[in-house]
Amino acid sequence: GKGEYDHFMLKEINEQPTAIAQAIEGRIDPARGAIDLDGFEPGAFEDIDEVQFVACGTSYHAALYGATALNRIGISATAMLANEYSVAAPPIDDGTLVVAVTQSGETADTLNALRSAAAAGAETLTLTNVIGSTASRIADKTLLIRAGPEIGVAATKTFSSQALMLVLLSRRIAADRSGERSGDRRSLLEAVESMPESIERVLDRSGAAAVARRYGDSQSYFFIGRGFGYAVSLEGALKFKEITYEHAEGFASGELKHGPLALVTPETPIFAVFTGTEDEKTLKNAEEAQTRGAPVIALCPPGHEATEIADEHLEIPETDATLAGLLANVQLQLVSYYAATQLDRSIDKPRNLAKSVTVE
Ligand code: M6R
Repeated sequence: GKGEYDHFMLKEINEQPTAIAQAIEGRIDPARGAIDLDGFEPGAFEDIDEVQFVACGTSYHAALYGATALNRIGISATAMLANEYSVAAPPIDDGTLVVAVTQSGETADTLNALRSAAAAGAETLTLTNVIGSTASRIADKTLLIRAGPEIGVAATKTFSSQALMLVLLSRRIAADRSGERSGDRRSLLEAVESMPESIERVLDRSGAAAVARRYGDSQSYFFIGRGFGYAVSLEGALKFKEITYEHAEGFASGELKHGPLALVTPETPIFAVFTGTEDEKTLKNAEEAQTRGAPVIALCPPGHEATEIADEHLEIPETDATLAGLLANVQLQLVSYYAATQLDRSIDKPRNLAKSVTVE
């Protein structure tokens, strides 16, 4: 049951420290710089030259997070919407690994993409929360996120666990391929180990409820960020629209000036996600919106330069740049949740949506 919580969504948001602790249990050893993924021998990924992710919705945003992690360490990766994959799948080579990211393991679009990748000869892996799911039976290998059951239609803890596991997978592929020195992984793995605590800190003193109260009757809600922050912006907007039924959109912050800026008014709050990569550019983009009257809500660590210009600040505890987006995302989950509560929406079962989409 929901226990002390009014909604499963809030319960599941609050379960994220536990979910992450379960995801990493026995899988990382910061002192040795080791990432041990059950079912994958050392060297299992040494022949992988390229990763193609296929996924839908929130899982697609986690995939984008994973692709960003891989590209940033020099391993080619693309994230593709599974429902677009059948139209124009990228070519598959010997070294291509196709990774289906699907919490349920039953999403029809994702299963189709996975089947066609397997038929084209790709090596396949499913990242899922469900042991024995269809996606896991189709793929050569399965990696479990171990998030525990998620009842709310809006995916929350499964996103965090997926994205975190993809960060680990990226570093494991790097280790297997190039013999990246274990010392190079130590500080990231220490930050991974502290993630449950860092998320706890966000949950304990979030400030999201006050922001939701202050801006809850706006016209549209925009989310901007770069790199990991871009993936989080898309996810922040999806969560917001699905449970509040209000218009929300996520943009790469650099894209704002290429069109969306025309929509910006004092009635369109901008959530700007700062994850430590090219933050000065995102700050300029946020200021451009602010000049048009839009309130800026900065998601960033304390003392960050964005706090000097922003109208509001939602704090992200200091962490590795690869993980900061996950903490920002928890803040945005809470903003959506409180905004939807104010509007008295059906939070755990939004209209027109299903937890598992088994039609194309
Ligand atoms: O089970 P999956 O991860 O494959 O589901 C994919 C999407 O339908 C899902 O992530 C959806 O976007 C979320 N429930 C939205 O919160």
